[in-house]
Amino acid sequence: MKLCMIGTGYVGLVSGVCFSDLGNEVICVDNDLNKIENLKKGIIPIYEPGLDELVIKNYKNNRLKFSTNLKDSILKSDVIFICVGTPTKKNGKDADLSQVYNVSKEISKSIKKFKIIITKSTVSVTTGEEIEKIVSKKVSKKLFSVVSNPEFLREGEAIRDFYKPDRIIIGTSHKKSNNILKNLYAPLISRGAKYLNTSRRAAELIKYSSNAFLATKITFINELANLCEKIDVNIEDVSIGMGLDKRIGSRFLRAGPPYGGSCFPKDTKAIAVTADKFKTNLTIIKSVIKSNENRLSLILRRIIHILMNSVKNKNICFLGVTFKANTDDMRDSPCLSMIPALIKKGAKINYFDPTGEKSDFKKFKNVVFSNNIKDAIKKSDLIIIHTEWNDFKTINFKKDVKNKKFSIFDMRNIYSANKMKDQKIKYFSIGN
Ligand SMILES: NC(=O)c1ccc[n+]([C@@H]2O[C@H](COP(=O)([O-])OP(=O)(O)OC[C@H]3O[C@@H](n4cnc5c(N)ncnc54)[C@H](O)[C@@H]3O)[C@@H](O)[C@H]2O)c1
Repeated sequence: MKLCMIGTGYVGLVSGVCFSDLGNEVICVDNDLNKIENLKKGIIPIYEPGLDELVIKNYKNNRLKFSTNLKDSILKSDVIFICVGTPTKKNGKDADLSQVYNVSKEISKSIKKFKIIITKSTVSVTTGEEIEKIVSKKVSKKLFSVVSNPEFLREGEAIRDFYKPDRIIIGTSHKKSNNILKNLYAPLISRGAKYLNTSRRAAELIKYSSNAFLATKITFINELANLCEKIDVNIEDVSIGMGLDKRIGSRFLRAGPPYGGSCFPKDTKAIAVTADKFKTNLTIIKSVIKSNENRLSLILRRIIHILMNSVKNKNICFLGVTFKANTDDMRDSPCLSMIPALIKKGAKINYFDPTGEKSDFKKFKNVVFSNNIKDAIKKSDLIIIHTEWNDFKTINFKKDVKNKKFSIFDMRNIYSANKMKDQKIKYFSIGN
């Protein structure tokens, strides 16, 4: 099939490349000229394991193209995926859908024969209806259908998730579109992916509800970790014990820092606003949002407590600054609040992240990026393990930290508290 991905970010690039690898002709479009020129040279804008080889392979065999020409790309394609960003609005609450609507206007100018317009971006319930209104101002309704096909890939495992999704959700009541999309996804369905055709509104809601539920699970275990810290119980025992119940499941039940990233914070806020708009109240999700915000200050207080209230001139090392391991995505990473707050109190920050230096911290004089773990930790008073990259799991702290009085705050509970005690290292973890 001839596909066009509008927006060549985490979602548009990964799914575009994988669709081309399945044999489709795909044009990935973006209005970021630099990104597109780099992609043509095989320079990948994001960290995603395995993506570079797939891009180069499919670009070379001509199934994958990169372009900044939206009009031409739409004209040449039968199925158009909208994959642009849907960040939180400046009011800090609902989703800013302006990129989706701008693209919809552009699409409406280039429809000469039947096209399926798909929202792969995460969009609020009724966005499909809005897109339909925008496009039908220029084009007869017979010439297009608007479908919701939300994306569930996880950064760091995006390619695996594309090929082995738990489910493919297609929100449409348009039979022809459903048949075409079932065909497009047939190679994944034959590998065991569940295909579910729902109403468009339901598909839009499934995406938000899924993210809100996962954010709730994380927040639930994070709050329990606070209780564990007061009653001499290890949260890891609780997580394992609960997770063994198949009705509960062990995933997303690991205590740690507040959730962050490009999806959970914005999607929890957006679904709560949607509910308000329809005059109902998602109180659970609202308290999840509040609890997650509170967790940031709680974790900061813990850091200050570990440093015995004396933060000024302390060398604090962050291992991992992205919102989770295996991604370079800084969007809504808790470090974006924690690091500036600690600098304000006079701390000196050193950090290492396997995905390299982050532009977010360049403006701070007292934040230094180190190229490797040893350099990052050697002068530390406190080492904060913020994400759980494999690189951080086998560090010989006794040997590599030159300051003998250092402490460790392991926010991902990677190390064994008992082993740290045996080595006489001051070790703090979550929910323990
Ligand atoms: N990142 C994830 O893990 C993930 C997972 C599932 C769903 N989603 C959803 O998918 C959507 C995209 O997320 P992302 O992380 O890929 O965003 P992204 O910011 O990485 O990519 C969006 C891209 O769209 C481009 N763009 C914006 N306006 C454009 C226009 N008019 N024409 C052409 N290109 C344009 C931007 O330049 C950018 O490259 C969001 O709604 C997000 O919530 C993201």
